Amino acid sequence: MTPHIRAEPGEIAETVLLPGDPLRARWAAETFLDAPQLVNDVRGMLGFTGTWRGHRVTIHGTGMGMPSLSIYANELITTYSARTLIRIGSCGAMQKHIAVRDVILAMSATSLSTPSRGILREMNFAPCADFGLLSAAHAAARSKGSTTHVGGIYSSDVFYDERPDLNEQMTRHGILAVEMEAAELYILAARHRCRALAVLTVSDHLLTHEALPASDRQSSFGDMVEIALEAAFA
Ligand code: HPA
Repeated sequence: MTPHIRAEPGEIAETVLLPGDPLRARWAAETFLDAPQLVNDVRGMLGFTGTWRGHRVTIHGTGMGMPSLSIYANELITTYSARTLIRIGSCGAMQKHIAVRDVILAMSATSLSTPSRGILREMNFAPCADFGLLSAAHAAARSKGSTTHVGGIYSSDVFYDERPDLNEQMTRHGILAVEMEAAELYILAARHRCRALAVLTVSDHLLTHEALPASDRQSSFGDMVEIALEAAFA
């Protein structure tokens, strides 16, 4: 047990999928896993463990933003046995050639700051994805027929952004999309020698202001779960 996860030792799998929304964790576990068991519900942050094609998998919510993700990822890695951590979530596109519904695989994650800032201090550490997961996810996404982009993303601390100039600089420097969690996940994975990846679906577009219709969100989310599972066990 940890302050935020009530699972017993051994109830968390080595492979963990991390959606932001705990209700999405429930939906994914009930839809894709065999014999899913609820292993956490502290503060309503749901986690389930089951099997996929015979492999044990945990699907656990992270909440929104890097401080929240950092709590769960730290506890999953250091108290439990999580070794492969894949975020599945949404993002806002920052390039014209990207459309809503497209899949983005985050090769790296730029940020202004992360919860690890106090450790890294003056160092501009470059948080990057595990290459094996990234290339396996790329193959899985393409075989599903998803339009897929691989590149850098921006992990922001704010959804309601009052600094449009920063987004402009990200677009200018080729950053594909903005979300709020991946940079800290990649830094924690590096520190603890784990494998990490963020698989994202474009839910809205910062330049065209297009948004994914609510009716399409579930199927896009399901595609990400399948891509993440195929990548984890490739
Ligand atoms: N900003 C930050 N996070 C996001 C966005 C956004 O526009 N869209 C989806 N996640």
